[in-house]
Amino acid sequence: MSRGSRRNLLLGIGAGTLALGGGTALGAGFRGSSSTGTLLRSQAPLPEAFARPLTVPPVLEPVSSTATEDVYEITQKVAQAEILAGARTEIWGYEGLMPGPTLNTVRGRKVSVLHRNELPVPAVVHLHGAHAAPEHDGYPTDLVLPVGADDHGHFGNQHGEGADISHGERLYEYDNNERAGTYWYHDHRMDFTAPAVWKGLAGLHLISDDEERALPLPDGDRDVPLMLMDRAFAADGSLSYPSVDPSLLETHGVEHPYEAGVLGDVVLVNGTPWPFLDVADVRYRFRILNASNARRYRLRLDPAPEGVPEPFVQIGSDGGLLATPLTHPHLDLASAERQEVVIDFSGYRVGEAVKLLNDFGEGSTERIMEFRIVRTERDESSVPDVLSEIEPLDPAEATVERDMVFGSQAIDGHHGWTINGEAFAVDDVHAAPHQGAVEIWNLYGDFHHPVHLHLVHFQVLNRGTKGPRRFDHGWKDTIDLRPAEQARIITRFDGNPGKYVFHCHNLEHEDMMMMGNFEVV
Ligand code: C2O
Ligand code: CU
Ligand code: CU
Repeated sequence: MSRGSRRNLLLGIGAGTLALGGGTALGAGFRGSSSTGTLLRSQAPLPEAFARPLTVPPVLEPVSSTATEDVYEITQKVAQAEILAGARTEIWGYEGLMPGPTLNTVRGRKVSVLHRNELPVPAVVHLHGAHAAPEHDGYPTDLVLPVGADDHGHFGNQHGEGADISHGERLYEYDNNERAGTYWYHDHRMDFTAPAVWKGLAGLHLISDDEERALPLPDGDRDVPLMLMDRAFAADGSLSYPSVDPSLLETHGVEHPYEAGVLGDVVLVNGTPWPFLDVADVRYRFRILNASNARRYRLRLDPAPEGVPEPFVQIGSDGGLLATPLTHPHLDLASAERQEVVIDFSGYRVGEAVKLLNDFGEGSTERIMEFRIVRTERDESSVPDVLSEIEPLDPAEATVERDMVFGSQAIDGHHGWTINGEAFAVDDVHAAPHQGAVEIWNLYGDFHHPVHLHLVHFQVLNRGTKGPRRFDHGWKDTIDLRPAEQARIITRFDGNPGKYVFHCHNLEHEDMMMMGNFEVV
């Protein structure tokens, strides 16, 4: 069925159908719960916690470099990983890895990545947080067909009119002029982003610059990414996922009762279940990314260092460094959000073990990983009082104010998710901001909806009648919108003209149509 007819069927179906009809799925996902979604239980025995060391994804070397540019090549392929001890798990990986290799880049040096698709399905690559030109942003229908697949008709109805189809490979080019920070690349194919990321298609893209490198923050081995993904495993060790169409080619969406989001019962950090990390009694910088489809986390150290009730010193968020550090007793992260924090392990004794727990988890997902303080080292790092400069956008400058309502709705008699009552359609434009214009968007949600805008970073002005929340500071590209909440954000649309998407980053919601277009004109 085409997008257009899908959308027509929406007419006359009232909002709220899903919430009422969803029964256990949404009941469990909403009331008193901290994630919107339903737990998918592993059939395989759960791996032992804190049994294997944390690994850090390898840094990808450029295949060539000039004075101003680095060129990379990534092959997307099916591979086997040992995620559960002694079992082989088939994954889809960038370079065959889950998570993919890290791109360690320098601000202002152009980055080009040639992606080759050796997967059995089309691919789309999006660099999350990038200020990319539209043809390099990974628009969901701009498919990269598998190598050797010359007949794209075989891949169903996923590409709209005007889709920019590539055969076998595609060169994605980035100015790479974003603020220094933690960005990530992941699959973004129309209708099938959630299962593709679940299978492993996600990796980090770090950007550094002189301003950041001049700061005395922990670095080298003491600058560690932590990519959180919850997953579930079948009895044979393969990844479970409740797709309606396991070929991931024709019919989108997940089986009932998982429409609200798929939550796994095993937490992977950089691809290893509940790992441990040996640390010295010094400061470390952690770049934490919630790369989970639907799960939210509230991270806490157990025990907290004595006399330090707020052990997380947040230095960065989605769009790089904060203006000044903020201390927190815990860290909340919705899907796609990043937080950079410094933890000072000098408050512990050598020989102690500290757990990173998840207060939003249940049972097995209450734990994340363990830090073991195993040695004493000198520490010359510190967290300066001023990290960066962030100029607040002035609401008086805003020329347009728009409302975007993120809600549940029946589509074709199935559960679906919409923005302003509309399912995603390639040709529908929700907003056409003028290039350079400052706009205020009022976001409204019924359940948890981590709302993400491509192209721009934004600032949070307020949440309902209150100011920004604890984790709303700095430049954001994803906001953790909670049930029945309203948030007001402000941004400047200073990108290249063209069409971009914004969507809910609960990836099941995204695949089930909670996405819209904005077109910079
Ligand atoms: Cu990370 Cu369009 O998303
Ligand atoms: Cu994005
Ligand atoms: Cu959502």
